[in-house]
Amino acid sequence: MTKAQAQGADIPELRVRSVEAADLGQVIAIDAEVTGLEKTDYWYELFHRYGGGRTRQRLFLVAESGDVIQGFIIGEIRDWEFGSAPCGWVFGLSVRASSRLAGVGARMLEAVCDGFRRAGVNKVRTLLARDNSLVLSFFRSQGMMAAPFIPLEKDLD
Ligand SMILES: CC(C)(COP(=O)(O)OP(=O)(O)OC[C@H]1O[C@@H](n2cnc3c(N)ncnc32)[C@H](O)[C@@H]1OP(=O)(O)O)[C@@H](O)C(=O)NCCC(=O)NCCS
Repeated sequence: MTKAQAQGADIPELRVRSVEAADLGQVIAIDAEVTGLEKTDYWYELFHRYGGGRTRQRLFLVAESGDVIQGFIIGEIRDWEFGSAPCGWVFGLSVRASSRLAGVGARMLEAVCDGFRRAGVNKVRTLLARDNSLVLSFFRSQGMMAAPFIPLEKDLD
């Protein structure tokens, strides 16, 4: 028995494709499940900027099985920012809680990396909360390592 079957996840015929407007209700629900916030305006704005495969630089993909959206991933190629050569950044990723540990996250990351490669970059980066060990375990399992950057911040009053 695979780990996914052990968890109860059975995800037939998974397909990773560009997000469509009709998917947004499910995307918003998956995000709300993880973050506890239903950010409808944010997601429509993000769809406008990243959705529909409008440019090779911006990718907003969903993993679909039947008519169920199992997860989403969002990434973008940033040119010469933070003093580095153009590279892909993944800045949003979530899988429906009931569908985890079935390879959905890995399939979506692979698809977004394929898109980055097709657009001509050979590096992918991400940023995550220091205490998010689940997301850290996932990215480490996909071969991602600590990068030579330090995030800085301060409060603006
Ligand atoms: C992180 C996340 C995307 C992983 O998705 P997933 O579909 O379950 O991941 P996969 O099944 O593709 O797992 C790939 C590998 O990641 C690692 N991994 C995934 N979940 C893990 C867990 N709970 N514990 C330890 N390692 C884990 C494993 O190495 C796994 O490989 P294996 O199954 O062969 O051991 C999913 O757990 C999620 O959406 N979490 C919430 C994300 C979040 O916090 N988003 C908001 C901030 S961006």
